Amino acid sequence: MMIKSPADLNGLIKIGQIVGETLLHMAEQLQPGMTTADLDQIGAVYLAKRGAKSAPIHDYRFPAHTCISINDEAAHGIATAQRVIQAGDLVNIDVSAVYDGYYADTGASYPVPPVRPEVERLCQYTRRALVEALAVVRDGAPLNVVGRAVDDVAKAGGYSIIRDLGGHGIGRKLHEPPHSIPHFFRPSLKDKLVMGQVLTVEPFLCVGKGRVKTDADGWTLRTVDKTLAAQYEHTIIITEGQPILTTKVSGTGH
Ligand code: CO
Ligand code: CO
Repeated sequence: MMIKSPADLNGLIKIGQIVGETLLHMAEQLQPGMTTADLDQIGAVYLAKRGAKSAPIHDYRFPAHTCISINDEAAHGIATAQRVIQAGDLVNIDVSAVYDGYYADTGASYPVPPVRPEVERLCQYTRRALVEALAVVRDGAPLNVVGRAVDDVAKAGGYSIIRDLGGHGIGRKLHEPPHSIPHFFRPSLKDKLVMGQVLTVEPFLCVGKGRVKTDADGWTLRTVDKTLAAQYEHTIIITEGQPILTTKVSGTGH
């Protein structure tokens, strides 16, 4: 969506802070031995307490309140009471929700100790890819600045980019046009960013080739070569300078 009024701005920031705080709340309680259903329930309770509704359920009838994706699961993992989080896992938590008609979407990958150096490095580079992309998005800049920035960081770290997972417009629905904002440089992309535009930036970096396919459950996106993937995501509003990060909450690590 495009922001048209102070009410739009306030609504987007309100839900942005709710999903950011939900992510923080879940990350703080993440520990080995708990199930992904336990972790999802923490998010569900917090969203309900704040009066927000899970966007994956509301918009897609997704079978859980948040997306929890472990190790080679890149995105859209379904929490279950059978899946126990293990020491050394890399757990991605992605929270999106709606409040008063406005949406926000945030995500982050959290290594469960003991953390192997290669996992820490993947997370560092993926966070850096997000930071570098956020530093160059502004009114009038080509949409391709996102992909170029992520491409540069991924190349420097020797990582692939999961090309099937892009950023997206957001605001009055979870997914709005543009439906896939590439996290790699796409020469044919001629769109420009516009002041007041609301979108996500959410690079996925991978130690393998970066190809994903959907599991038999119809949702979980898993790397084909079973290698680790990491993602960090914010919902942002384009301005003439630095973007407004609606989902930025201190303590989430991104
Ligand atoms: Co997300
Ligand atoms: Co998203």
